[in-house]
Amino acid sequence: MQTAEAAENGEDAVGDQRNEDAGPSPCSQPLSKNAQKKLLKQQRFEAKKAEKKAAMKEHKKREGERKRKEWDQMLEGATKEERERLIESRKGLRKERMEKRSEERENKIQRLTEAKHHGQNIVVDFEFSHLMTSSEIHSLVQQIMYCYAINGKSTSPGHLWLTSLRGEMEIQLRRLPGFDKWLIEKEDRSYIEAFQDRKERLVYLTADSENTLDELDPMNIYIVGGLVDRNRWKGITMKKAKEQGIQTAKLPIGNYLKMSSSQVLTVNQVIEILLKFLETKDWKTSFFQVIPQRKICESASEEHRGDSEREENEEKDDQIERRRKLMEVESLPRDESVGTDLNS
Ligand SMILES: C[S@@+](CC[C@H](N)C(=O)[O-])C[C@H]1O[C@@H](n2cnc3c(N)ncnc32)[C@H](O)[C@@H]1O
Repeated sequence: MQTAEAAENGEDAVGDQRNEDAGPSPCSQPLSKNAQKKLLKQQRFEAKKAEKKAAMKEHKKREGERKRKEWDQMLEGATKEERERLIESRKGLRKERMEKRSEERENKIQRLTEAKHHGQNIVVDFEFSHLMTSSEIHSLVQQIMYCYAINGKSTSPGHLWLTSLRGEMEIQLRRLPGFDKWLIEKEDRSYIEAFQDRKERLVYLTADSENTLDELDPMNIYIVGGLVDRNRWKGITMKKAKEQGIQTAKLPIGNYLKMSSSQVLTVNQVIEILLKFLETKDWKTSFFQVIPQRKICESASEEHRGDSEREENEEKDDQIERRRKLMEVESLPRDESVGTDLNS
């Protein structure tokens, strides 16, 4: 499975790099020097990623074998009575683990069902799907999976909506195991249609807005543009919101930190920030917990992180972040046995 970070960046999209840099017909035109460099960098990244994945798999396999051997040796050296006790205690532990997992699942279902009625409405707008390449759509699907997982873990989950869910986006999402049972609103209508009686409550979140979010108003419906475009479509969400006459707002990033590049974040980052804010009511904490360290100017991030962490190098930060995100995504539920269909 692709990591959420790779999904954020559309990192399996080598072909996309080519599209971006070499114009509309990459097959017939030679790659520019810049495009060749990018492609090479991408290929090196992919090779390194595959290497690390293989090493991790091997490590896991060896660990499994070691534990099995340890267990066999323990049984061999034990008396009949001790052996029975060991087996029983192992069974007990396994049962406990399963019960804990099922309790967690139940709690999660309860939280999400409650969020359907009282949670903050957050919409992902898929009306721009036709502007993305299939690998960008694939990246967006990974991001949505990640958002679903994060929302399920949140102590104050939002009421998530996927609107204008049609075409390729819908096909790819429906291929995900368990998607049919996700506790999330799946709407083929646009948000304007779905919320026609609450148009004045719609707020399109866009980095291009002049308005800065201060609080999250529980009565408002916040919309995030479902787009992975490496900002190829600059200002597109702002333009759409203006044309529709709905409110807009940007996240108050500039009030709390300095970014090393643009303030345009990925869909999963924006949603995770909103969810963190619902939990903590604190923008600064939300930004620092979600925005990758490498995207934050050093002085700001170090000031926030304090002396003890200052020595950690960037590579380590990235590794921790990748591992954290991977763990989150890998713990995605595969078969939620719920009849209700709200959103994840
Ligand atoms: C990858 S961005 C897409 C950028 C796209 N070119 C645009 O014009 O919105 C995905 C979405 O995240 C939201 N977003 C990203 N950064 C944001 C920010 N700083 N403030 C508010 N919303 C943001 C927007 O809804 C945006 O459409």
